[in-house]
Amino acid sequence: MLNDTVLWYTTRGAGAVSLVLLSAVVVLGVLSSLRFELSSWPRFLTTGLHRNIALTAIVFLALHIVTAVVDPFTHLGWLAAVVPFSSTYRTFWLGLGVIAFELLIAITVTSLVRGMIGHSTWRAIHWLSYGSWPIAVLHGFGTGTDTWSAWMLVIDVICIVAVVGAVGARLMLRSPDALAADRARFRERVSRIVKPLRPIATGMRPSSN
Ligand code: HEM
Repeated sequence: MLNDTVLWYTTRGAGAVSLVLLSAVVVLGVLSSLRFELSSWPRFLTTGLHRNIALTAIVFLALHIVTAVVDPFTHLGWLAAVVPFSSTYRTFWLGLGVIAFELLIAITVTSLVRGMIGHSTWRAIHWLSYGSWPIAVLHGFGTGTDTWSAWMLVIDVICIVAVVGAVGARLMLRSPDALAADRARFRERVSRIVKPLRPIATGMRPSSN
């Protein structure tokens, strides 16, 4: 009995933590696509956090799913965790969770083998995140025991505001020139080399200082 209770609390807790982590991953992904950086927040921090939080989210999701499956109350069975809408327990809402998770696995695996599949394929699959996240939110709303409890509502609102805000900023801001920084660096280096040579090219004696 105690074990069933522990499983149930773990499923719910790990579900909530997964949602928070996934929302953070989406926000950081949007920030890195906007090439956001501050002097106190270098860009590598955004990309590093994006990757590491995504991997942590997978661990919490694994915990969420395993505890949900082995919980004797739900009788889910492993098939229900793999085949969308095959569960007799909260069929529709649980099916959404399975779809969100499978999209996430596709996004994660293709990111790990990005060098092998090429940038455009990786990018096309990565866009699935914009589908996976809202599907996961709907799953949590529909199937969660805690959906209407104050703490879960606060978590949901913070996650939704953060992601919708980040995606809104992404849509409103002009798509940045991905090579702007490299181009600026290149121009600066070239001008450093060319500057002392300019008097020679114009037939003047180079200054000694
Ligand atoms: C991206 C994938 C997923 C995310 C982000 C996610 C997140 C959540 C959240 C936030 C809740 C609500 C927790 C609560 O109200 O306390 C929840 C509930 C639940 N999830 Fe998921 N989930 C995902 C995938 C799955 C999958 C694949 C399964 C299948 C085994 C699953 C099984 C469940 C169950 C059984 C509940 C209800 C727990 C309860 O009784 O309250 N979830 N999930």
